Amino acid sequence: MISAIRAAIAAIQAASVREKMLADRKISLTVNGKPVEVAAGTSVAAAVMMAGEPSRFSVTGEARAPLCGMGICMECRMTVDGVPQRRGCQLLCADGMEVQSS
Ligand code: FES
Repeated sequence: MISAIRAAIAAIQAASVREKMLADRKISLTVNGKPVEVAAGTSVAAAVMMAGEPSRFSVTGEARAPLCGMGICMECRMTVDGVPQRRGCQLLCADGMEVQSS
């Protein structure tokens, strides 16, 4: 029983160290031409919000932003590295990525 608890604690500590290492690694990308730096593991939708940019515009021209964060609402559609209609909440940022509000 005690060895199982020790193993669980070690696993939690290892996961915590991995998360810290990820958060310390920075990714640089551009959002509508603005340079943005985010922690590794950040979604494109989060990076767009951090840049203060809308994810897309409605047919009547209203700025839209990510809503569900799980790939359902389609409010985070944007052009990523020239590919239109990508769901930003389902993509992780990568160095040198170019994101455009659709
Ligand atoms: S935020 Fe809803 S699909 Fe991305």
